[in-house]
Amino acid sequence: MIGVILAGGEGTRLRPLTNITNKHLLPVYNKPMIMYPLEFMRDLGITEIVLVAGRSFAGDFADLLGDGSGYGVDLTYRVQEGSPGIAQALGLAEKVANHKPVTVILGDNIFAVKKAEMIEIKRIVDGFDSKPDGAVLFLKGVSDPERFGVARIDRKGDICEIEEKPKRPKSNYAVTGFYVYDSTVFEKIKRLKPSKRNELEISDVNNMFLKERKLKHHIVKGVWTDAGTFESLFRATVTARGADTRKAGLHSGRRGV
Ligand code: G1P
Repeated sequence: MIGVILAGGEGTRLRPLTNITNKHLLPVYNKPMIMYPLEFMRDLGITEIVLVAGRSFAGDFADLLGDGSGYGVDLTYRVQEGSPGIAQALGLAEKVANHKPVTVILGDNIFAVKKAEMIEIKRIVDGFDSKPDGAVLFLKGVSDPERFGVARIDRKGDICEIEEKPKRPKSNYAVTGFYVYDSTVFEKIKRLKPSKRNELEISDVNNMFLKERKLKHHIVKGVWTDAGTFESLFRATVTARGADTRKAGLHSGRRGV
């Protein structure tokens, strides 16, 4: 299993912050944003990781993370030009993946989950790795689904439809930016056509797996947020601070806070 962290794009929704650095290098509480998805992958036991970075400020990723050994991972870099979409960025990892399945996370996605949920997610990823077939999506109920890929679930409990940023969402389940795919994902990406916003959409890839009836899902217990807008970046900081202070025992009263 190869890990892929997607940190492409130009972060236009965060200008002027992204005029001087890449979105994924912005601070989220006490670390650059990119370190959260990196540590999430590592904590799942995925250490061979491809980082796809946006062209502007791409060298800064290497300055921060180097070969990854300081963070317990083995990093390879690819550069994405412009903003041709998440699916295009994932396609750049094909050679490194070399027919292996991939676990993918978007560089602005932050998960704060308890140990039991982490173990459950690891069980799903490891199970897929031993018998790769199709894709697994991770969903989370949110109050603003129109900002995301939205999954509709039928009475049997299966995903029956995925819509990218629908004006009228048919459910509250956002598709988080954490995905597990078998190696057919790369051939699927090659068949994609650009969307209305002129990007290769990851939701279109997920719909291809759905059509083949090879799409499973897990509903995440715990906190998940992206960080691509000012509001969500703020929420990410609050989430990260909460998780960090809990880890340090600050919320337990032991340190008198
Ligand atoms: C992307 C995907 C969307 C997904 C979201 C998760 O949206 O296109 O399907 O729900 O990431 O963070 P973006 O925020 O990059 O437009």
